[in-house]
Amino acid sequence: MALNIIAIESSCDETSASIIQDGKVLSNTILSQSVHEIYGGVVPELASRAHQQHIISVVNQALKEAGVSIDELNAIAFTQGPGLLGSLLVGISFAKGLSIAKNIPLISVNHMQAHILAHFIEDPKPNFPFLCLTISGGHTQLVLVSNYLDMKILGETRDDAVGEAFDKIGKMLGFPYPGGYLIDEHAKAGDPGRFKFPSTSVPGYNFSFSGIKTAVLYFLRNQLKADGQFIEKNLDDLSASIQHTLIEMLMEKLILCAKDNDIGEIAIAGGVAANSGIRDHLIGLSKYYDWKTYIPKLEYCTDNAAMIGIAGYYKLLEGALCDLTVIPDARLKF
Ligand code: KG4
Ligand code: ZN
Repeated sequence: MALNIIAIESSCDETSASIIQDGKVLSNTILSQSVHEIYGGVVPELASRAHQQHIISVVNQALKEAGVSIDELNAIAFTQGPGLLGSLLVGISFAKGLSIAKNIPLISVNHMQAHILAHFIEDPKPNFPFLCLTISGGHTQLVLVSNYLDMKILGETRDDAVGEAFDKIGKMLGFPYPGGYLIDEHAKAGDPGRFKFPSTSVPGYNFSFSGIKTAVLYFLRNQLKADGQFIEKNLDDLSASIQHTLIEMLMEKLILCAKDNDIGEIAIAGGVAANSGIRDHLIGLSKYYDWKTYIPKLEYCTDNAAMIGIAGYYKLLEGALCDLTVIPDARLKF
């Protein structure tokens, strides 16, 4: 008999549900909340309300696409954290309700581990141990992955996440939230060497992205004094130069960490891994350093429930279930 897991993701501004059958993704329904666009960032209260509004229809859609009925579900996986508390609460409450109603076990999943385990949705899958650069709107981490659930953070950001830097700088350039994708699009037509921005270096395998944000702010302020149209006229070159600096900062630490740990299996994960500049750069590095690199499909980079389901599947195989006393944890660590 098939083993069906339903997975729920609601940690930030994507409401998503997925059906996983025997470790294979049958459906992955994602509803991206557009309500935040005009605010320049995610508004937590609006996010949790939108999750409440849409979770039932997203779940129904995921079941329909998978061709699986609610009575055929064997377990329910959900994001316990990290993320926005009010948003996490919607997913966890739904999961508990379904668990009680259908008498099926609950599996709590760490969102950041799930981003990494998205690599096990499809082939080619990384070999253990591998190094994963996890880059999202809330995190920037270098993780040594020894097994499905055995992961160690070797370095992380001391301040802003790289996705936050993309989005905040995107806002300065006049893009709606989240601006990361638009910087990527404009960078394709721009000259990455046109403007120079300082890259901040911190000890070890850690990162810092607050400095470049401030540097861009002051640079734009000065240029706008002389020419009020400076941003519009130079949007492509600005995007390319900023993106180039962010990529250099990420890759410097990735190279150092891979060398020190003598690892040639390299993966990227998280929403910012959708960036075409980062993807291209990594392919170039893999040729130069003879790495085997793993880059997830775009739909498995940004937040999605399929990655929660895959993580849930491996937890279920290990018998790592939770009970109804589980609570959301906005700062969940692993
Ligand atoms: O993993 P994710 O969907 O949510 C979090 O867990 O944070 O990542 C969202 C982040 C946002 O900062 C968004 O701007 C960024 O991923 N992002 C990109 C691109 N696509 C999404 N950043 C740069 N280039 C992209 N193409
Ligand atoms: Zn995420």
